[in-house]
Amino acid sequence: MTRRAVVAGVGHRLPERVVENAAFESRLDTSDEWIRSRSGIERRHFAAEGECTSDLALAAARAALADAGLEPEDIDTVIVATSTPDLTFPAVATMVQAGLGMRHGYGFDMQAVCAGFIFALANAQALIGSGLARRVLVIGAETFSRILDWDDRTTCVLFGDGAGALILEAAEGTGAVSDRGVLACDLNSDGRQHGILYVDGGVSSTQTAGHLRMQGKEVFRHAVEKLAATAETVLASAGLGPDAVDWLVPHQANLRIIRGTAAKLGLPMQRVVVTVQDHGNTSAASIPLALSVAHADGRLRRGDLLLLEAIGGGLAWGSVLLRW
Ligand code: ACO
Repeated sequence: MTRRAVVAGVGHRLPERVVENAAFESRLDTSDEWIRSRSGIERRHFAAEGECTSDLALAAARAALADAGLEPEDIDTVIVATSTPDLTFPAVATMVQAGLGMRHGYGFDMQAVCAGFIFALANAQALIGSGLARRVLVIGAETFSRILDWDDRTTCVLFGDGAGALILEAAEGTGAVSDRGVLACDLNSDGRQHGILYVDGGVSSTQTAGHLRMQGKEVFRHAVEKLAATAETVLASAGLGPDAVDWLVPHQANLRIIRGTAAKLGLPMQRVVVTVQDHGNTSAASIPLALSVAHADGRLRRGDLLLLEAIGGGLAWGSVLLRW
């Protein structure tokens, strides 16, 4: 028998304000056509003034609890993947815990930038597998609009705000790949690549939040190669090939990266969940947002095999094989 982290519910929250590509044309030398053709992005949501990462995370958590038919007292662990916390401390997860009225259990944040949700999911599986947790609320929540340089056309048009949440609960599986739940994980980082994607501020260095800086071309180059490699690794560790995958649910940064990775794996785009056109890059929130959207519109069916993968600042990257 193998103790698996099995999905019990999913939900999301997007800020109300939607900003179309054309809105950038009046103040930057850019165009809807450039943004669309280079990234696949058409619009994104931006948080309202005073609307924080914890507000989005809490709303997504409530939606996931409702989807699972569970109450906050049924949850024992809250993990929030974020690079844009409300405050330096305490953790956003403890804010969600308080917001849900939980007086038990524990919460903590996890920071692996755009790969944060993959790392959080792998940790949820590890906590459940070891018996340290029974029901884990895993949230990806971001307000990247707060760290964008609005004068830098090469970055500010690419990101958005939002949150998605998954509830994972312990279930005894047979150990076979036909089990529901997390089947395999692959995590990686390479700190030597710090300079191609980072924020130029922080508590211990500048005492400011800083702005996102990215060498897009370099990140792009690493992304397609590393995402295909991690996907192949996680499939091999489960003894499966790409043919077994019902849905590729990638981090939503750029449609060209998504297409390139799917092509390397030999997966047709009909089996890829794509939301980047409506959300932009919401970093750690992008995968749970995509899962929630595809669950709500009926694409994801119980028993489907999902391959989740992401890469972001660090560089940090990885993948999770999950039977829905
Ligand atoms: N509007 C118009 N022109 C622009 C814009 C813009 N918004 N931004 C850049 N350009 C220009 C550039 O200045 C350049 O002009 P030049 O040729 O005169 O120098 C030209 O367009 C081409 O720029 P490139 O950077 O070569 O464009 P590219 O096709 O590589 O697309 C992009 C850029 C979209 C950033 C792409 O490289 C990309 O998606 N990279 C990966 C980003 C990513 O995946 N990030 C994920 C992790 S994010 C995280 O972890 C937080």
